[in-house]
Amino acid sequence: MIKFDKDFALIRTKEFLLELKKNNNQLYINKIGHKDTNHIIDNKEPSNLIMTLPNMTFSYYGECDYRESLFYAHYEDGSFSDHFVFTYFEKENNVNNKWPLPKNIKEYLVINYVNERDTISIKHYLGIDEVNNTVASFYKVINKKEKSLLVNRLMSLQLDFDDDGYSFYTFNGKWGDERNITVHQEEIGTFINESKSGASSAQSHPGIIFFKNNDYYLFNLIFSGNHKEIIHNSHLHTTRVLIGANDFMMNIHLGVGEEFITPCATLTYGKSLNDLSLSSQAFINSNIRYDDGVFPLIFNSWEAEEFNLNKSNWPSLAKKAKELGIDTFVFDDGWFGVNRNDTDHDIGDWTWNEKKMGSIPFVKKTLNELGLKFGLWIEPESLSPLSNVWDEMKKFALIKEGDTPVLLRGTYALDYSNKELRDYLFNKLERSLATYKPDYVKWDYNRSIVDIGLKNKNYGSFYFDYVEGFYDLINRLRKRFPNIIFEGCSSGGNRFDSGALYYFGSIWTSDCTDARKRITIQENTALMYPLKSMTNHISASPNQQTNKKSSIHDRINVALFGQMGVEQNLSNIDEYELNNIKEAFKFYNQYKDLILNGEYYFSNIFNPLHTWTVVDKAKDHAIALLIKLVDKKDKLTLVGLDENKHYNVVSRHQDNASDIVINNISGKELMEEGIEVKDSYLESDKEDNEINISTRVLVINSI
Ligand code: DGJ
Repeated sequence: MIKFDKDFALIRTKEFLLELKKNNNQLYINKIGHKDTNHIIDNKEPSNLIMTLPNMTFSYYGECDYRESLFYAHYEDGSFSDHFVFTYFEKENNVNNKWPLPKNIKEYLVINYVNERDTISIKHYLGIDEVNNTVASFYKVINKKEKSLLVNRLMSLQLDFDDDGYSFYTFNGKWGDERNITVHQEEIGTFINESKSGASSAQSHPGIIFFKNNDYYLFNLIFSGNHKEIIHNSHLHTTRVLIGANDFMMNIHLGVGEEFITPCATLTYGKSLNDLSLSSQAFINSNIRYDDGVFPLIFNSWEAEEFNLNKSNWPSLAKKAKELGIDTFVFDDGWFGVNRNDTDHDIGDWTWNEKKMGSIPFVKKTLNELGLKFGLWIEPESLSPLSNVWDEMKKFALIKEGDTPVLLRGTYALDYSNKELRDYLFNKLERSLATYKPDYVKWDYNRSIVDIGLKNKNYGSFYFDYVEGFYDLINRLRKRFPNIIFEGCSSGGNRFDSGALYYFGSIWTSDCTDARKRITIQENTALMYPLKSMTNHISASPNQQTNKKSSIHDRINVALFGQMGVEQNLSNIDEYELNNIKEAFKFYNQYKDLILNGEYYFSNIFNPLHTWTVVDKAKDHAIALLIKLVDKKDKLTLVGLDENKHYNVVSRHQDNASDIVINNISGKELMEEGIEVKDSYLESDKEDNEINISTRVLVINSI
């Protein structure tokens, strides 16, 4: 519900509330938090004149407020301070924003501000997804009369709390080790979480979970580029949170009548971590995620053969994949150009390498006969200098003349801010896709942006324009090829964010397929994103990235919770493993709907003994994963069942463990006392279990 009158606005979801109140031409936060909070914020001006603007949703430089602000600008006369006043509220229905907006939020409260000299106005848009406790927020600055205005910062969401002592999680990592939770305790001063690499990044994810007592807030951004989150704890023990696209090198010139609009940030509220994750997953499923319908069951060639995939080995891999129950055979990296046998060549040359892979008619015939669909990998944001297309495309490379450009994985980045490049790429990819007719395309992005060599361009909006360009191209291809399923990837999970999910229904969660590492990566990702948006493949043991051995059962169990597939060499796989994968796909097909569309609950993820449970709305059917990361006999409790219902529980059969069968057990007992898993780190399995993990999958049905 959004309500307002002249001096007051109320933004209220099922569980969250934000009240704004006018006082002396300023708009203050009157209440914030759980919908029943009766804590009214004392917004009287502090007497010490060090900070006169208490709690707001818009801040700027030019008052006695030295906290980080949402808006910074330089004016024609060289000044950089200003004075804004709140003017009025209004509602807007057909809101236009060039950045992705939540699809079901149709109505926005617009809060209008203007500066004293009436030369600049600011519009703050606030919309809600009431059921999923999510608020969407973005800003627009309009230059009404300033001869020249340089915008140096405009973030997407600000919330001020009149207290401190919050804890927060940031999600940090690196290639193959994305979204580890870093636990922070708020301290006086400024904390910044940000990315400057051009992508939302594996190093610092834009989502931050901020909490105290039973109030949990997820700040997130629907944007795939550089981002910045600031937590400012003032000397008066108040807390300001800001989130938005990064102002790193931002310098946007606005002439009279011109405006700049920010990407949309989201705030999701929950009464617990699990509650927060449920709301965020549901919000992203209904408002953000591109829905391709049923996602394919994929065999991906990368971990199987890497660059050695060729016409003499892929047909037998395809045959084996079909035997397993796979429906789409994906030619990952290596199918194009003439020399793509390593990472140094041919990125940019999206033509089929017939000599290496056989002709397209041969590919189609082979796959058709097996009843398999056809998938391709592309990396359209990079360019190899060692390629046939270099001369033609080098003018689009982000290279600064006179400098030695940074070559990463054999490529230079392309200037996606340039429409000419996007038109060129659209035509090129259109030609290839229309000719080869794939059913599925994996869009990869394997480098960061370092050299910014732009000829005659405004450098100050580059990182925004790049992301806009990326969205523009994928959107055009989506429209031109509505039947192709596009999956996202960026060296694994380097660009796993709400903006990317707007265009890709699922993203390759990580290049690390080691079952133990995957548990952490997948469950941390699931704090914000639905299981449906994560692609997980069963891979070989020892693992390609960690070189550690694990049993086929653990690899299967973990991969089950998302968009499943297989990515290992099937030509040298033993019968035992093959049969287990075959059975796993049967199981997956049977329960896929529940796994992907059910509600996801988890017990304490920081405890080495914990569980995931996916339950249907009526709480009659569930699939659970029991996770042991220490060799300890203990009971594992489930979450999310109906304590008053009775259930039958049976484990997915694993040859290396005794079946778990429990008849007629109450939901209360399953959730309070739990299930004891007798076999822990089975002796027979020890050799195969270098990652010290024991997992079981349970099928739970109410009686
Ligand atoms: C990085 C991706 O994350 C991998 O899955 C694979 O596609 C390689 N690139 C191919 O170069």
